[in-house]
Amino acid sequence: MHAAARNSRYSATVRWAHWLTVLAVAAAYLLVELGDDDEHGGTAGSAMQGHYLAGLVVLGLLLVRVIGMAIGPRPPIVPAPGHLSVLVARVTHLALYLFLLAQPIIGILSVNYAGETVTLPWSGTALPALVHADPGAREFVEELHESLGEIFYWVIGLHVVAALWHHFVKGDNTLRRML
Ligand code: HEM
Ligand code: HEM
Repeated sequence: MHAAARNSRYSATVRWAHWLTVLAVAAAYLLVELGDDDEHGGTAGSAMQGHYLAGLVVLGLLLVRVIGMAIGPRPPIVPAPGHLSVLVARVTHLALYLFLLAQPIIGILSVNYAGETVTLPWSGTALPALVHADPGAREFVEELHESLGEIFYWVIGLHVVAALWHHFVKGDNTLRRML
């Protein structure tokens, strides 16, 4: 591949982290639905364990991604989008980053406030509890986690529509930079 083509994309680390994050977020959404079905909203079964794991993977990938973004190339969009487009993208991306950070942490708090710990699969290692059991706080963070989960269906949807619009309607390189 020519150097110009290589440099016009995000680094492999950032691209891999982005698409693995998409998979992990999708897995978290899917598994929680399965968990709801066979455990009536309980938190003990294997689908919920999978949900926790997917959420922890999201958190890990976020770290990789932020470091990758900080040290790697930020290829420009060609042709350059307008000011409004740039502003909407900034706000959406910031919201997505905050979600990727906050949602897993709020999930962990929800488990800990219920007096349980999050255990890693296979090794069975329990992560240290961040907080003590507290039914009132549990109810609050549980509702927050659920609301954020619903709101971000829409934010993620907007992000995906924007990416496809750039690619198919404007015909710029926004999406190709991430492929
Ligand atoms: C990006 C990652 C995550 C996403 C997108 C996500 C999303 C969701 C959604 C949509 C629900 C369903 C709420 C409902 O029943 O309507 C849920 C429930 C839940 N999540 Fe997560 N979650 C994530 C990470 C985590 C993590 C890391 C943990 C804990 C380690 C966690 C713990 C829980 C718990 C305990 C519930 C069930 C609450 C209940 O009792 O109904 N989540 N999550
Ligand atoms: C769970 C789903 C997704 C999440 C959480 C997510 C999150 C993010 C985040 C945080 C950025 C960072 C942008 C930056 O720092 O500049 C980004 C960039 C990007 N995403 Fe996603 N994304 C998701 C799904 C998708 C999908 C399905 C597509 C394609 C259809 C897509 C296409 C892109 C593109 C093209 C960029 C680069 C945008 C730019 O540089 O202006 N994303 N994504």
